[in-house]
Amino acid sequence: MRVLLTGGAGFIGRHVHDQLRAEGHEVTVLDSFRPDVHAYRPEPRPGLIVGDVRDPRTFEGIDTVIHLAAKVGLGVHLNDIDDYVSSNSLGTAVLLKSLGTVRNLVYASSMVVYGEGRYDCDEHGQVAPGPRRTEDLDAGRFEPPCPLCGAPLRPGLVTEDAVPDPRNAYAASKLNGEHLAAAWARETCGRVTALRFHNVYGPGMPRNTPYAGVAAIFRSMLERGEKPRVFEDGGQRRDFVHVRDVAAAVTLSAAALPQQPAFRAYNVGSGTVTTIGEVATELARAYGGPAPIVTGEYRLGDVRHITASSDRLKDELGWKPAYDLQTGLEDLLRSAG
Ligand code: UD1
Repeated sequence: MRVLLTGGAGFIGRHVHDQLRAEGHEVTVLDSFRPDVHAYRPEPRPGLIVGDVRDPRTFEGIDTVIHLAAKVGLGVHLNDIDDYVSSNSLGTAVLLKSLGTVRNLVYASSMVVYGEGRYDCDEHGQVAPGPRRTEDLDAGRFEPPCPLCGAPLRPGLVTEDAVPDPRNAYAASKLNGEHLAAAWARETCGRVTALRFHNVYGPGMPRNTPYAGVAAIFRSMLERGEKPRVFEDGGQRRDFVHVRDVAAAVTLSAAALPQQPAFRAYNVGSGTVTTIGEVATELARAYGGPAPIVTGEYRLGDVRHITASSDRLKDELGWKPAYDLQTGLEDLLRSAG
């Protein structure tokens, strides 16, 4: 493949770049080196375009685009809301307009498009809990109750057919990008594969930035000799997927695009459900640091549980994650940053 890789200098992008090159593909990276993420801005060179996806351009000699460039994170501050829309929604729109004759697109989406994951009530079957209420969180009631009878719910695995329900600006902008890409595919007879990443971790994770994922935050705390601070009661359920497994999913789905329909979404998770408390405990153990503390703090934009089934990606494209959590976390601790 002759690939344009947007966001190729980012955490996931660097691993995708390595994987593409290892598989013998030609890669051109387009990355803005935004200053809130990167400490430096390199000179453009063959194979590297330093620029923003929001600047219109034409791409020569490309057959496949992998669009990872985005402003990531939670969207904690409302001040950021226009930057999410601009970087992610507008960025995707301008890129789509620039694609010319390219028909194959992999779009980096996120599990956050689902909002709260799947929940079942003993009485009412599958239900969709509403946004979490501040008064519940303040009182330490972290589990969303059944919206119909208030009973406790059983969290489960979401599949790609679940109705999206984005709960923050980042999530809304990622879902919007999926919709824009699907519209592009319909109008151009193109093909887009949206990969909904779970909590990606591994070597090269951003650290000490507002965009750092919890595994990197816990690692930084351990390195400072501090106890990892676990929010809520530590029972939040997630699926931590190693960045090299994610890179493999990206290249696999890029290569499969010519056989794909106009739009196909895939969840990308390890298949192992973990709580944040367990991740903190496992990291602290592997590091040989102090045991975590559970603080009861919360972030309003956080969902309680989100775990997905990645069976579609395994069944249709033969993807198989290689890292279990213990090996992956040890790999994270060994890596320089
Ligand atoms: C993460 C990603 C998001 C991605 C999504 C996919 C980041 C910053 N967010 O969101 O981009 O789309 O996965 O599923 O990478 N927590 C603590 N202590 C801390 C910090 C966080 O306990 O010091 C808790 C949070 O309250 C939350 C959990 O850890 O319950 C996970 O937080 P985070 O790593 O930010 O990930 P997500 O919100 O799941």
